[in-house]
Amino acid sequence: MTFKRTLVTSALPYANGPVHIGHLAGVYVPADIYVRYLRLKGEEVLFVGGSDEHGVPVTIRAREEGITTQEVVDRYHNIIQRSFDEFGISYDVYSRTTSKIHHSFAADYFRKLYDTGKFIEQTTEQFYDPETNEFLTDRNIRGECPRCHVMGAYGDQCEKCGATLSPDELINPYNAINGNPLTKKETTHWYLPLDQYQSWLEEWILQNHKEWRTNVYGQCKSWLDGGLKPRAVTRDLNWGIPVPVENAEGKVLYVWFDAPIGYISNTKELCDAQPEKYGTWEKWWKDEETRLIHFIGKDNIVFHCIVFPSMLKADGSYILPDNVPSNEFLNLEGDKISTSRNWAVWLNEYLVDFPNKQDVLRYVLTANAPETKDNDFTWADFQARNNNELVAIYGNFVNRALVLTKKYFNGAVPALGALTEYDQQTLQECEEIKGQLQELLDHFRFRDAQKVAMNMARIGNKYLADTEPWKVAKEDLQRTGTILNISLQIAANLSIAFEPFLPFSSQKLHTMLNMPQTTWEDLGNMQILPEGHALGEVSLLFEKIEDETIQYQLDRLARIKAENEKKAQEEALKHWVPAEYKADTNIDEFAKTDIRVGTVLECTRVKKSERLLQLRIDDGKGVRTILSGIATSYPNPEELVGKQILFIANFPPRKMMGIESQGMVLSAVDADGKLVVTTVTAPVKNGSQVG
Ligand code: 2FM
Ligand code: ZN
Repeated sequence: MTFKRTLVTSALPYANGPVHIGHLAGVYVPADIYVRYLRLKGEEVLFVGGSDEHGVPVTIRAREEGITTQEVVDRYHNIIQRSFDEFGISYDVYSRTTSKIHHSFAADYFRKLYDTGKFIEQTTEQFYDPETNEFLTDRNIRGECPRCHVMGAYGDQCEKCGATLSPDELINPYNAINGNPLTKKETTHWYLPLDQYQSWLEEWILQNHKEWRTNVYGQCKSWLDGGLKPRAVTRDLNWGIPVPVENAEGKVLYVWFDAPIGYISNTKELCDAQPEKYGTWEKWWKDEETRLIHFIGKDNIVFHCIVFPSMLKADGSYILPDNVPSNEFLNLEGDKISTSRNWAVWLNEYLVDFPNKQDVLRYVLTANAPETKDNDFTWADFQARNNNELVAIYGNFVNRALVLTKKYFNGAVPALGALTEYDQQTLQECEEIKGQLQELLDHFRFRDAQKVAMNMARIGNKYLADTEPWKVAKEDLQRTGTILNISLQIAANLSIAFEPFLPFSSQKLHTMLNMPQTTWEDLGNMQILPEGHALGEVSLLFEKIEDETIQYQLDRLARIKAENEKKAQEEALKHWVPAEYKADTNIDEFAKTDIRVGTVLECTRVKKSERLLQLRIDDGKGVRTILSGIATSYPNPEELVGKQILFIANFPPRKMMGIESQGMVLSAVDADGKLVVTTVTAPVKNGSQVG
């Protein structure tokens, strides 16, 4: 199939907070690299984005901030749009799902499927808050995680252990907003019967799209192998697009139904406004000669590969995605990025701390792009890639080539004299870069592609280091001229090769070289700059990043981590359900246990054990050793030294890790599983009996 044009979409981010480096690395930078590459090649391409302004996350944010949902989406839509703009994400259209055009387009889309019998109706029991008379969406239900037992896990996911959950799995579910306990109530919704699309999807994806990334193909296969079920496309909620049928008060389109339609309605918005420039929206969505590519993160795979295509197929008049290059996740300093836990580097904040360094972040995120597996962003790596690659290789090469030309040739491109074998080899290696780059970019392998572009800078840097034109200048200025001519041609090629990745630096380099407008066609041409061509002003392409700057970021993250731990503890305590009291006993049974008071003389970790502390206790008669499994609750065991504590004195001695333990220390278990050793409220004699 040959295509005439390419329509590129990037996931519509929820307007419930600013965008962070995970978004940029996973979706927006790769989409932008691809689009810039196609544009440079002169292809017809349209890049569509926008904010996802419905759904529960925005309503939660509104409550947290004490403002209306509309105010939330207005605020974050603007912040997000500005960040994309500042980072050079070069959309043709960036709109929003609260737009009028989207509301009516999405409602019409639903209505057409409804009228042609593409939905089924089902009544199910859903969690309900009888006090507020509201059905609760998964995200608004919280409770104890059935896997890791943290309190406050969400109905769809536990943020602590990452488990995907359904609200039914939560232990003691409650309303996240007011803490009310929940009941169940019947409600009716419309469902897209995905089971009816199963065999079609199997053929379309598993047979005809074997070339999709393995992570994408694999996820689709496992969904399909599990057997698809009907999916609700409506919700009981007061924020969203009202379901456009009779007797559907209080119901809106499910956010995952309307959001992907946003790709279409945003295209329509653009095409309707500028038909001469962009043509009709149908040309982009209904013409078989258009190639549709969705850039998304891995949590969106099922929606873009299974649900949305089924919606498009149900309508019947649309093209389907040709590829869905989804990335895995980017972590931050080893932990999952999380909006609700503020564990992120926010783009708007980054630019305050690193003004004009958009390309540095773009570079580092592409170098670490989670294309095949989750990857980690660390500030140390950020600094190293900037200082050792952008500054030391690319920037250094370009700077030397330009500064030497200024020095020896008054800033005009010198003549190319006779070529040595090494010159020829260098030129050839650079010429070959184009083919390598294309091969990788055409297959969405941006990380390797950027490496190839950087290789050209490496070639140039090595060439200058090997040929030493500043030394040669003393005897043979003509030879120096040849070396610099070649170096400047490499620099000119670098500005083209890096344009999709580092658009700001390419622009800067273009200006420094005073280069005419170039396209992808010019890449590989090692005579872009004619002899005598006057260069522009020279400045540094990249700057070194100092240790203090990095330390500042690390300190910020450390503060956030401490705050999160405190919050998690408070949440756990708020919803702590005490352990069941045991059945009756009697005084005689109790009297059999000999509980005493003793002073801790020493308290140390037991070697090779994560759990055990060894306590030496003055028990009033002598000193006894007791081992206790409290090590994780007492990272500084010395803090117990000098304390009077309660222990059971008449347990038979027991050996653990080769040490005999003579009794048991009594501890209380806190809500989050932390152990707190018990003590007396006033000093008593060691050996005093407790009872
Ligand atoms: O995961 C998300 O952030 C969603 N807002 C993505 C939506 S993509 C599309 F369908 F609009
Ligand atoms: Zn969990």
